[in-house]
Amino acid sequence: MLERCGDASEGFSPEQKQGLYRAIFERRDVRSQFRPDPIPQAILTRVLTAAHHAPSVGFMQPWDFIVIDDPAVRGAVKGMFTRENARAAAHYTGERATLYRAMKLEGILESPLNLCVTCDRTRGGPHVLGRHTIIDTDLFSVCLAIQNLWLAARAEGIGVGWVSILDPVELAQLLGLPAHVHPVAYLCLGYVCEFLAVPELQQKGWRERVPLETLLHHNRWGTAMPDGEWLGAHPGHQDARESKTP
Ligand SMILES: Cc1cc2nc3c(=O)[nH]c(=O)nc-3n(C[C@H](O)[C@H](O)[C@H](O)COP(=O)(O)O)c2cc1C
Repeated sequence: MLERCGDASEGFSPEQKQGLYRAIFERRDVRSQFRPDPIPQAILTRVLTAAHHAPSVGFMQPWDFIVIDDPAVRGAVKGMFTRENARAAAHYTGERATLYRAMKLEGILESPLNLCVTCDRTRGGPHVLGRHTIIDTDLFSVCLAIQNLWLAARAEGIGVGWVSILDPVELAQLLGLPAHVHPVAYLCLGYVCEFLAVPELQQKGWRERVPLETLLHHNRWGTAMPDGEWLGAHPGHQDARESKTP
């Protein structure tokens, strides 16, 4: 007989769940729809606090946030983007090249705030709990902070756009990052005139969302999921199924 612990599976209220899923499904990467309105400090702090509550390997919290509103810094970043984007565009030919060049892939100057999220790869000392085998778990942790930020911003009505078409070495130099601090994300933040219903890349015909069913495997790669109502029930816990509806 397995020992039972308490049951906290009630979860959130229907309204709370709806709010969370709404933030997830209505979050967008924003480039073209920024309004110039400034962002109140208190709201930015709420969004950054959400980022700071992300999970991190060994509770390392390797992130820092550089809030950028200086037009000179943003202008320099925009210049870096323009050069890198021209290099990226050269990889496409024909219709794909035309479509690539027509797409707006950043809102560095149109958004009122830019934010660089960094990873201090030395924070927590040389042996961070849980990072022994996979050294990049610090970078994964920073990405989770960015996702928290992205969702919290959406709930606050603030759009976020991730600009990765930048040379990280050049960006680190421009922002004066110490050698052990890696720039993970350069983000554009601001209120928007619209959150698109679908990703802009989908709207412009670049790529569709892949159906979830085609991405699911059961127990090992390539084996289809079984049909059935329940998954993962322990044989000793059959009774638990009766009291729960999925
Ligand atoms: C790591 C990462 C880097 C990205 N870099 C860029 C970028 O440089 N320019 C851009 O326009 N969008 C960028 N995006 C946004 C994606 O294009 C976008 O998330 C995707 O098309 C899905 O759209 P959605 O975020 O609106 O759902 C990036 C997203 C991620 C997660």
